[in-house]
Amino acid sequence: MKVSTVLLSIACLVAQVAASHHGIPNHQVVRTHVRRNATSIDVPSTQGLNFTIDGEADYFAGTNSYWIGYLTNNADVDLVLDHLQESGLRILRVWGFSDVNSKPTDGKVYFQLLQNGTATINTGSDGLQRLDYVVAAAEKRGIKLIINFVNNWSDYGGINAYTTAFGGTSTSWYTTPVIQNVYRKYIKAIISRYSQSSAIFAWELANEPRCSGCNTSVIYNWAASTSAYIKSLDSQHMVAIGDEGFGLNVGSDGSYPYTYAEGLDFEKNLEIDTIDFGTFHLYPSTWGVANSFGNGWITAHAKACVAAHKPCLMEEYGVETTKCTVEGQWQQTALETKGIGADLFWQYGDKLSTGNSPDDHYTIYYGTDDYKCLITDHVAEA
Ligand SMILES: *[C@@H]1O[C@H](CO)[C@@H](O)[C@H](O)[C@H]1NC(C)=O
Ligand SMILES: *[C@@H]1O[C@H](CO)[C@@H](O)[C@H](O)[C@H]1NC(C)=O
Ligand SMILES: *[C@@H]1O[C@H](CO)[C@@H](O)[C@H](O)[C@H]1NC(C)=O
Ligand SMILES: *[C@@H]1O[C@H](CO)[C@@H](O)[C@H](O)[C@H]1NC(C)=O
Ligand SMILES: *[C@@H]1O[C@H](CO)[C@@H](O)[C@H](O)[C@H]1NC(C)=O
Repeated sequence: MKVSTVLLSIACLVAQVAASHHGIPNHQVVRTHVRRNATSIDVPSTQGLNFTIDGEADYFAGTNSYWIGYLTNNADVDLVLDHLQESGLRILRVWGFSDVNSKPTDGKVYFQLLQNGTATINTGSDGLQRLDYVVAAAEKRGIKLIINFVNNWSDYGGINAYTTAFGGTSTSWYTTPVIQNVYRKYIKAIISRYSQSSAIFAWELANEPRCSGCNTSVIYNWAASTSAYIKSLDSQHMVAIGDEGFGLNVGSDGSYPYTYAEGLDFEKNLEIDTIDFGTFHLYPSTWGVANSFGNGWITAHAKACVAAHKPCLMEEYGVETTKCTVEGQWQQTALETKGIGADLFWQYGDKLSTGNSPDDHYTIYYGTDDYKCLITDHVAEA
Protein backbone atom coordinates (compact mmCIF):
# COMPACT_ATOMS: atom_id res chain seq x y z
CA MET A 1 0.00 0.00 0.00
CA LYS A 2 1.41 3.38 -0.96
CA VAL A 3 0.23 6.17 1.25
CA SER A 4 1.87 9.49 0.66
CA THR A 5 0.43 11.58 3.45
CA VAL A 6 0.50 10.92 7.15
CA LEU A 7 -3.02 12.27 7.52
CA LEU A 8 -4.39 9.86 4.98
CA SER A 9 -2.58 6.93 6.47
CA ILE A 10 -4.03 7.73 9.89
CA ALA A 11 -7.48 8.08 8.39
CA CYS A 12 -6.92 4.78 6.67
CA LEU A 13 -5.77 3.07 9.84
CA VAL A 14 -8.81 4.32 11.73
CA ALA A 15 -11.03 3.09 8.95
CA GLN A 16 -9.28 -0.28 8.93
CA VAL A 17 -9.62 -0.73 12.68
CA ALA A 18 -13.27 0.27 12.46
CA ALA A 19 -13.75 -2.05 9.53
CA SER A 20 -12.07 -5.01 11.18
CA HIS A 21 -14.73 -4.84 13.85
CA HIS A 22 -17.30 -5.27 11.14
CA GLY A 23 -15.44 -8.04 9.39
CA ILE A 24 -14.83 -5.99 6.24
CA PRO A 25 -11.61 -7.06 4.50
CA ASN A 26 -9.04 -4.26 4.64
CA HIS A 27 -8.55 -3.96 0.91
CA GLN A 28 -12.20 -3.02 0.45
CA VAL A 29 -11.81 -0.19 2.90
CA VAL A 30 -8.71 1.01 1.12
CA ARG A 31 -10.57 0.99 -2.17
CA THR A 32 -13.05 3.61 -0.92
CA HIS A 33 -10.07 5.85 -0.13
CA VAL A 34 -8.79 5.38 -3.64
CA ARG A 35 -12.01 6.81 -4.98
CA ARG A 36 -11.68 9.83 -2.75
CA ASN A 37 -8.11 10.58 -3.72
CA ALA A 38 -6.74 8.72 -6.66
CA THR A 39 -3.60 10.80 -6.87
CA SER A 40 -1.87 9.84 -3.71
CA ILE A 41 -2.61 6.34 -2.48
CA ASP A 42 -2.71 2.81 -3.69
CA VAL A 43 -1.62 3.34 -7.23
CA PRO A 44 -0.96 -0.14 -8.68
CA SER A 45 2.68 -0.96 -8.19
CA THR A 46 5.23 -3.67 -7.73
CA GLN A 47 6.26 -5.14 -4.40
CA GLY A 48 9.22 -7.38 -4.90
CA LEU A 49 8.17 -9.89 -7.53
CA ASN A 50 4.45 -9.25 -7.00
CA PHE A 51 2.09 -6.65 -8.32
CA THR A 52 -0.19 -4.79 -5.95
CA ILE A 53 -3.68 -3.54 -6.72
CA ASP A 54 -5.52 -1.41 -4.17
CA GLY A 55 -2.68 -2.10 -1.77
CA GLU A 56 -3.03 -5.86 -2.05
CA ALA A 57 -0.08 -7.98 -3.25
CA ASP A 58 -1.38 -10.97 -5.13
CA TYR A 59 -1.29 -12.91 -8.36
CA PHE A 60 -3.68 -11.24 -10.81
CA ALA A 61 -5.52 -12.58 -13.83
CA GLY A 62 -6.62 -10.27 -16.62
CA THR A 63 -7.15 -9.99 -20.33
CA ASN A 64 -6.75 -7.98 -23.51
CA SER A 65 -9.32 -6.07 -25.52
CA TYR A 66 -7.71 -4.05 -28.31
CA TRP A 67 -11.14 -2.98 -29.59
CA ILE A 68 -12.91 -1.66 -26.51
CA GLY A 69 -11.75 1.93 -27.04
CA TYR A 70 -13.21 1.91 -30.55
CA LEU A 71 -16.74 0.92 -29.53
CA THR A 72 -19.31 3.65 -30.11
CA ASN A 73 -22.03 2.27 -27.86
CA ASN A 74 -21.53 2.97 -24.15
CA ALA A 75 -23.75 0.03 -23.22
CA ASP A 76 -21.30 -2.34 -24.94
CA VAL A 77 -18.40 -0.95 -22.92
CA ASP A 78 -20.42 -1.31 -19.72
CA LEU A 79 -21.42 -4.87 -20.60
CA VAL A 80 -17.81 -5.95 -21.14
CA LEU A 81 -16.57 -4.31 -17.96
CA ASP A 82 -19.46 -5.75 -15.94
CA HIS A 83 -18.50 -9.20 -17.18
CA LEU A 84 -14.82 -8.67 -16.39
CA GLN A 85 -15.67 -7.51 -12.89
CA GLU A 86 -18.04 -10.40 -12.31
CA SER A 87 -15.34 -12.81 -13.57
CA GLY A 88 -12.70 -11.45 -11.19
CA LEU A 89 -10.42 -10.28 -13.99
CA ARG A 90 -8.54 -7.32 -12.55
CA ILE A 91 -6.33 -6.03 -15.37
CA LEU A 92 -7.42 -5.07 -18.87
CA ARG A 93 -4.91 -4.16 -21.58
CA VAL A 94 -6.28 -1.85 -24.26
CA TRP A 95 -4.97 -0.01 -27.31
CA GLY A 96 -4.42 3.63 -26.47
CA PHE A 97 -3.74 4.45 -30.11
CA SER A 98 -5.63 4.60 -33.38
CA ASP A 99 -3.51 6.38 -35.94
CA VAL A 100 -4.77 7.25 -39.41
CA ASN A 101 -3.26 9.01 -42.44
CA SER A 102 -6.55 10.46 -43.63
CA LYS A 103 -9.71 11.34 -41.85
CA PRO A 104 -12.10 8.38 -41.90
CA THR A 105 -15.37 9.16 -43.66
CA ASP A 106 -17.28 6.23 -42.17
CA GLY A 107 -17.40 7.37 -38.54
CA LYS A 108 -14.53 5.07 -37.56
CA VAL A 109 -12.99 6.02 -34.23
CA TYR A 110 -9.47 7.42 -34.56
CA PHE A 111 -7.25 9.11 -31.99
CA GLN A 112 -4.56 10.74 -34.12
CA LEU A 113 -4.39 11.99 -37.70
CA LEU A 114 -0.92 11.94 -39.25
CA GLN A 115 -1.06 13.78 -42.54
CA ASN A 116 1.03 16.17 -44.64
CA GLY A 117 3.78 16.16 -42.03
CA THR A 118 1.50 17.22 -39.20
CA ALA A 119 -0.09 15.38 -36.30
CA THR A 120 -3.56 16.22 -34.99
CA ILE A 121 -4.95 14.52 -31.91
CA ASN A 122 -8.68 13.84 -32.12
CA THR A 123 -10.34 14.67 -28.81
CA GLY A 124 -13.82 14.54 -30.34
CA SER A 125 -16.71 12.16 -29.87
CA ASP A 126 -15.21 9.86 -32.54
CA GLY A 127 -11.82 10.20 -30.86
CA LEU A 128 -10.40 10.13 -27.35
CA GLN A 129 -13.84 10.60 -25.83
CA ARG A 130 -14.38 6.92 -26.58
CA LEU A 131 -11.29 6.00 -24.55
CA ASP A 132 -12.48 8.42 -21.83
CA TYR A 133 -15.58 6.31 -21.49
CA VAL A 134 -13.56 3.11 -21.09
CA VAL A 135 -11.39 4.71 -18.40
CA ALA A 136 -14.41 6.05 -16.50
CA ALA A 137 -16.23 2.71 -16.75
CA ALA A 138 -13.11 0.86 -15.51
CA GLU A 139 -12.82 3.27 -12.56
CA LYS A 140 -16.36 2.46 -11.47
CA ARG A 141 -15.60 -1.25 -11.35
CA GLY A 142 -12.09 -1.30 -9.93
CA ILE A 143 -10.64 -2.66 -13.19
CA LYS A 144 -7.08 -1.51 -13.89
CA LEU A 145 -5.98 -0.65 -17.41
CA ILE A 146 -2.73 -1.02 -19.30
CA ILE A 147 -2.76 1.62 -22.01
CA ASN A 148 -0.20 1.52 -24.78
CA PHE A 149 0.81 4.24 -27.19
CA VAL A 150 1.68 2.80 -30.60
CA ASN A 151 1.52 -0.43 -32.57
CA ASN A 152 4.46 -2.07 -34.30
CA TRP A 153 1.94 -3.53 -36.70
CA SER A 154 -0.21 -1.63 -39.19
CA ASP A 155 -3.46 -2.43 -37.41
CA TYR A 156 -4.89 0.87 -36.22
CA GLY A 157 -2.08 2.75 -37.89
CA GLY A 158 1.03 1.92 -35.98
CA ILE A 159 4.59 2.69 -36.91
CA ASN A 160 3.57 2.57 -40.59
CA ALA A 161 1.18 5.48 -40.10
CA TYR A 162 4.06 7.56 -38.74
CA THR A 163 6.49 6.65 -41.50
CA THR A 164 3.83 7.28 -44.16
CA ALA A 165 3.39 10.83 -42.86
CA PHE A 166 6.96 11.65 -41.85
CA GLY A 167 9.18 9.30 -43.84
CA GLY A 168 11.62 6.60 -42.79
CA THR A 169 11.22 2.89 -42.21
CA SER A 170 9.94 0.59 -39.48
CA THR A 171 13.47 0.37 -38.08
CA SER A 172 14.46 4.06 -38.38
CA TRP A 173 11.23 4.96 -36.54
CA TYR A 174 12.95 4.50 -33.18
CA THR A 175 15.67 7.02 -33.84
CA THR A 176 14.06 9.65 -36.09
CA PRO A 177 13.72 12.86 -34.02
CA VAL A 178 10.69 14.32 -35.83
CA ILE A 179 8.80 11.05 -35.37
CA GLN A 180 9.81 10.61 -31.76
CA ASN A 181 8.63 14.17 -31.04
CA VAL A 182 5.20 13.40 -32.47
CA TYR A 183 5.07 10.13 -30.53
CA ARG A 184 6.00 11.94 -27.30
CA LYS A 185 3.38 14.62 -27.84
CA TYR A 186 0.82 11.86 -28.17
CA ILE A 187 2.10 10.16 -25.01
CA LYS A 188 1.85 13.47 -23.16
CA ALA A 189 -1.74 13.99 -24.34
CA ILE A 190 -2.82 10.56 -23.10
CA ILE A 191 -0.98 10.76 -19.80
CA SER A 192 -2.26 14.21 -18.96
CA ARG A 193 -5.77 12.98 -19.72
CA TYR A 194 -5.69 9.92 -17.47
CA SER A 195 -2.84 10.15 -14.95
CA GLN A 196 -5.24 11.17 -12.16
CA SER A 197 -7.53 8.23 -12.82
CA SER A 198 -7.64 5.37 -10.33
CA ALA A 199 -8.05 2.99 -13.29
CA ILE A 200 -4.46 3.07 -14.58
CA PHE A 201 -2.38 -0.04 -13.99
CA ALA A 202 0.54 0.94 -16.23
CA TRP A 203 1.60 2.84 -19.34
CA GLU A 204 3.10 0.84 -22.15
CA LEU A 205 5.51 2.08 -24.80
CA ALA A 206 4.18 0.02 -27.70
CA ASN A 207 2.49 -3.17 -28.74
CA GLU A 208 5.14 -5.70 -29.72
CA PRO A 209 7.93 -3.32 -30.71
CA ARG A 210 10.48 -4.99 -32.96
CA CYS A 211 13.47 -3.72 -34.84
CA SER A 212 14.32 -6.59 -37.11
CA GLY A 213 18.05 -7.11 -37.63
CA CYS A 214 18.93 -4.07 -35.51
CA ASN A 215 21.54 -3.86 -32.80
CA THR A 216 19.57 -4.38 -29.57
CA SER A 217 20.90 -1.02 -28.40
CA VAL A 218 18.33 0.67 -30.71
CA ILE A 219 15.30 -0.56 -28.79
CA TYR A 220 17.16 -0.42 -25.48
CA ASN A 221 17.99 3.28 -25.98
CA TRP A 222 14.48 4.09 -27.17
CA ALA A 223 12.88 2.23 -24.24
CA ALA A 224 15.22 3.89 -21.74
CA SER A 225 14.63 7.43 -22.99
CA THR A 226 10.89 7.05 -23.60
CA SER A 227 10.22 5.46 -20.22
CA ALA A 228 12.28 8.19 -18.51
CA TYR A 229 10.17 10.76 -20.39
CA ILE A 230 6.96 9.06 -19.18
CA LYS A 231 8.22 9.07 -15.58
CA SER A 232 8.96 12.80 -15.91
CA LEU A 233 5.28 13.33 -16.76
CA ASP A 234 3.87 10.84 -14.26
CA SER A 235 6.17 9.45 -11.61
CA GLN A 236 3.41 7.45 -9.90
CA HIS A 237 2.41 4.89 -12.47
CA MET A 238 4.29 1.86 -13.67
CA VAL A 239 5.80 1.74 -17.14
CA ALA A 240 6.46 -1.34 -19.29
CA ILE A 241 7.64 -1.94 -22.84
CA GLY A 242 4.88 -4.20 -24.21
CA ASP A 243 7.34 -6.39 -26.11
CA GLU A 244 7.04 -10.10 -26.84
CA GLY A 245 9.94 -11.01 -24.55
CA PHE A 246 12.33 -11.96 -27.37
CA GLY A 247 16.10 -12.19 -26.88
CA LEU A 248 16.83 -14.22 -23.81
CA ASN A 249 20.02 -15.99 -22.78
CA VAL A 250 18.78 -17.57 -19.56
CA GLY A 251 16.86 -20.77 -20.24
CA SER A 252 17.34 -20.50 -24.01
CA ASP A 253 16.68 -23.59 -26.12
CA GLY A 254 18.24 -21.83 -29.11
CA SER A 255 14.94 -21.42 -30.96
CA TYR A 256 14.03 -18.21 -32.80
CA PRO A 257 12.11 -16.46 -29.97
CA TYR A 258 15.19 -16.67 -27.72
CA THR A 259 17.42 -15.04 -30.33
CA TYR A 260 18.15 -11.34 -30.75
CA ALA A 261 16.95 -11.34 -34.38
CA GLU A 262 14.10 -8.90 -33.72
CA GLY A 263 16.40 -6.41 -32.03
CA LEU A 264 15.21 -7.17 -28.51
CA ASP A 265 17.24 -8.17 -25.46
CA PHE A 266 14.81 -9.01 -22.67
CA GLU A 267 17.38 -9.19 -19.87
CA LYS A 268 19.13 -5.96 -20.85
CA ASN A 269 15.87 -4.04 -21.29
CA LEU A 270 14.74 -5.16 -17.85
CA GLU A 271 17.75 -3.37 -16.34
CA ILE A 272 16.31 0.02 -17.35
CA ASP A 273 15.37 1.58 -14.04
CA THR A 274 12.33 3.41 -15.47
CA ILE A 275 10.88 0.08 -16.64
CA ASP A 276 8.95 -1.43 -13.74
CA PHE A 277 8.24 -4.95 -14.94
CA GLY A 278 8.94 -7.35 -17.77
CA THR A 279 6.40 -8.25 -20.46
CA PHE A 280 6.31 -11.30 -22.67
CA HIS A 281 3.87 -12.90 -25.09
CA LEU A 282 3.41 -16.53 -26.07
CA TYR A 283 2.29 -17.64 -29.55
CA PRO A 284 4.06 -20.90 -30.45
CA SER A 285 2.28 -21.43 -33.78
CA THR A 286 3.14 -18.01 -35.22
CA TRP A 287 6.72 -18.35 -33.97
CA GLY A 288 7.25 -21.77 -35.59
CA VAL A 289 7.69 -23.72 -32.35
CA ALA A 290 5.59 -26.43 -30.71
CA ASN A 291 3.03 -25.71 -27.99
CA SER A 292 5.28 -27.60 -25.56
CA PHE A 293 7.71 -24.69 -25.95
CA GLY A 294 5.43 -22.64 -23.70
CA ASN A 295 6.35 -23.85 -20.23
CA GLY A 296 10.08 -23.33 -20.78
CA TRP A 297 9.41 -19.85 -22.19
CA ILE A 298 7.48 -18.94 -19.04
CA THR A 299 10.07 -20.27 -16.60
CA ALA A 300 12.94 -18.67 -18.56
CA HIS A 301 11.32 -15.24 -18.27
CA ALA A 302 10.56 -15.86 -14.62
CA LYS A 303 14.27 -16.51 -14.01
CA ALA A 304 15.23 -13.29 -15.74
CA CYS A 305 12.63 -11.39 -13.70
CA VAL A 306 13.82 -12.91 -10.43
CA ALA A 307 17.38 -11.87 -11.33
CA ALA A 308 16.19 -8.32 -12.09
CA HIS A 309 14.02 -8.16 -8.93
CA LYS A 310 11.01 -7.14 -11.03
CA PRO A 311 7.83 -9.11 -11.75
CA CYS A 312 7.07 -10.50 -15.16
CA LEU A 313 3.67 -10.05 -16.77
CA MET A 314 2.63 -12.82 -19.18
CA GLU A 315 0.59 -10.26 -21.06
CA GLU A 316 -0.59 -12.10 -24.19
CA TYR A 317 -0.88 -15.82 -24.83
CA GLY A 318 -3.03 -17.96 -27.00
CA VAL A 319 -3.57 -20.95 -29.26
CA GLU A 320 -6.22 -21.46 -31.91
CA THR A 321 -7.32 -24.96 -30.87
CA THR A 322 -7.33 -27.08 -27.71
CA LYS A 323 -7.23 -23.87 -25.72
CA CYS A 324 -8.28 -25.37 -22.40
CA THR A 325 -5.53 -28.01 -22.33
CA VAL A 326 -2.69 -25.94 -23.71
CA GLU A 327 -3.35 -22.55 -22.16
CA GLY A 328 -4.48 -24.15 -18.92
CA GLN A 329 -1.05 -25.69 -18.51
CA TRP A 330 0.66 -22.35 -19.19
CA GLN A 331 -1.54 -20.67 -16.59
CA GLN A 332 -0.61 -23.35 -14.06
CA THR A 333 3.08 -22.82 -14.78
CA ALA A 334 2.74 -19.04 -14.50
CA LEU A 335 0.90 -19.35 -11.19
CA GLU A 336 3.44 -21.73 -9.70
CA THR A 337 6.58 -19.99 -10.90
CA LYS A 338 8.19 -17.31 -8.78
CA GLY A 339 8.73 -14.20 -10.86
CA ILE A 340 5.45 -14.24 -12.79
CA GLY A 341 3.06 -11.79 -11.14
CA ALA A 342 0.05 -11.78 -13.47
CA ASP A 343 -1.24 -13.04 -16.80
CA LEU A 344 -3.57 -11.58 -19.42
CA PHE A 345 -5.04 -14.01 -21.93
CA TRP A 346 -5.49 -12.99 -25.56
CA GLN A 347 -8.23 -12.11 -26.09
CA TYR A 348 -11.56 -11.42 -24.43
CA GLY A 349 -14.75 -11.97 -26.44
CA ASP A 350 -18.36 -11.02 -25.82
CA LYS A 351 -21.71 -10.57 -27.50
CA LEU A 352 -22.11 -6.87 -28.24
CA SER A 353 -25.09 -4.94 -29.60
CA THR A 354 -23.48 -5.26 -33.04
CA GLY A 355 -22.89 -9.02 -32.72
CA ASN A 356 -19.88 -10.97 -31.52
CA SER A 357 -16.72 -9.00 -30.78
CA PRO A 358 -13.79 -9.70 -33.17
CA ASP A 359 -12.81 -13.36 -33.54
CA ASP A 360 -9.16 -13.88 -34.50
CA HIS A 361 -9.40 -17.58 -33.55
CA TYR A 362 -7.70 -16.82 -30.24
CA THR A 363 -10.81 -15.18 -28.78
CA ILE A 364 -12.34 -16.72 -25.68
CA TYR A 365 -15.97 -15.71 -25.47
CA TYR A 366 -17.70 -15.00 -22.19
CA GLY A 367 -19.96 -17.85 -21.12
CA THR A 368 -18.32 -20.63 -23.16
CA ASP A 369 -16.70 -23.86 -21.90
CA ASP A 370 -13.26 -22.44 -22.66
CA TYR A 371 -14.19 -19.40 -20.60
CA LYS A 372 -15.03 -21.59 -17.64
CA CYS A 373 -11.80 -23.54 -17.95
CA LEU A 374 -9.43 -20.64 -18.58
CA ILE A 375 -11.04 -17.77 -16.74
CA THR A 376 -13.51 -18.92 -14.07
CA ASP A 377 -11.35 -21.81 -12.85
CA HIS A 378 -8.09 -19.89 -13.24
CA VAL A 379 -9.35 -16.87 -11.30
CA ALA A 380 -10.57 -19.16 -8.54
CA GLU A 381 -7.09 -20.66 -8.26
CA ALA A 382 -5.11 -17.45 -8.60
C1 LIG B 1 -4.83 14.00 -3.15
O1 LIG B 1 -3.77 14.05 -2.23
C2 LIG B 1 -2.67 14.81 -2.66
C3 LIG B 1 -1.54 14.66 -1.65
O2 LIG B 1 -2.03 14.62 -0.35
C4 LIG B 1 -3.11 16.25 -2.84
O3 LIG B 1 -2.04 17.03 -3.29
C5 LIG B 1 -4.22 16.27 -3.88
O4 LIG B 1 -4.70 17.58 -4.03
C6 LIG B 1 -5.37 15.36 -3.47
N1 LIG B 1 -6.31 15.27 -4.59
C7 LIG B 1 -7.62 15.26 -4.43
C8 LIG B 1 -8.43 15.12 -5.67
O5 LIG B 1 -8.14 15.37 -3.33
C1 LIG C 1 3.95 -12.35 -3.24
O1 LIG C 1 2.76 -13.09 -3.36
C2 LIG C 1 2.84 -14.40 -2.88
C3 LIG C 1 1.48 -15.04 -3.07
O2 LIG C 1 1.01 -14.83 -4.36
C4 LIG C 1 3.24 -14.41 -1.42
O3 LIG C 1 3.44 -15.75 -1.01
C5 LIG C 1 4.51 -13.60 -1.23
O4 LIG C 1 4.81 -13.50 0.14
C6 LIG C 1 4.37 -12.23 -1.82
N1 LIG C 1 5.60 -11.50 -1.70
C7 LIG C 1 5.61 -10.22 -1.35
C8 LIG C 1 6.97 -9.57 -1.31
O5 LIG C 1 4.61 -9.59 -1.07
C1 LIG D 1 -3.44 17.58 -46.13
O1 LIG D 1 -3.51 18.04 -47.48
C2 LIG D 1 -4.75 17.76 -48.13
C3 LIG D 1 -4.61 18.18 -49.59
O2 LIG D 1 -4.08 19.45 -49.68
C4 LIG D 1 -5.86 18.49 -47.39
O3 LIG D 1 -7.10 18.19 -47.98
C5 LIG D 1 -5.88 18.07 -45.95
O4 LIG D 1 -6.82 18.80 -45.20
C6 LIG D 1 -4.52 18.27 -45.29
N1 LIG D 1 -4.54 17.70 -43.96
C7 LIG D 1 -4.07 18.33 -42.89
C8 LIG D 1 -4.18 17.61 -41.56
O5 LIG D 1 -3.55 19.44 -42.93
C1 LIG E 1 6.91 -4.80 -37.05
O1 LIG E 1 8.22 -5.28 -36.83
C2 LIG E 1 8.78 -6.11 -37.81
C3 LIG E 1 10.18 -6.45 -37.42
O2 LIG E 1 10.97 -5.30 -37.38
C4 LIG E 1 8.78 -5.46 -39.16
O3 LIG E 1 9.22 -6.37 -40.13
C5 LIG E 1 7.40 -4.99 -39.49
O4 LIG E 1 7.42 -4.31 -40.69
C6 LIG E 1 6.86 -4.10 -38.38
N1 LIG E 1 5.55 -3.69 -38.72
C7 LIG E 1 5.29 -2.53 -39.30
C8 LIG E 1 3.88 -2.27 -39.63
O5 LIG E 1 6.12 -1.70 -39.51
C1 LIG F 1 25.80 -2.71 -30.78
O1 LIG F 1 25.92 -1.41 -30.24
C2 LIG F 1 26.83 -1.35 -29.16
C3 LIG F 1 26.75 0.03 -28.52
O2 LIG F 1 26.10 0.95 -29.30
C4 LIG F 1 28.22 -1.70 -29.64
O3 LIG F 1 29.12 -1.64 -28.57
C5 LIG F 1 28.19 -3.10 -30.24
O4 LIG F 1 29.44 -3.38 -30.80
C6 LIG F 1 27.13 -3.21 -31.31
N1 LIG F 1 27.01 -4.60 -31.69
C7 LIG F 1 27.08 -5.01 -32.95
C8 LIG F 1 26.95 -6.48 -33.18
O5 LIG F 1 27.25 -4.23 -33.87
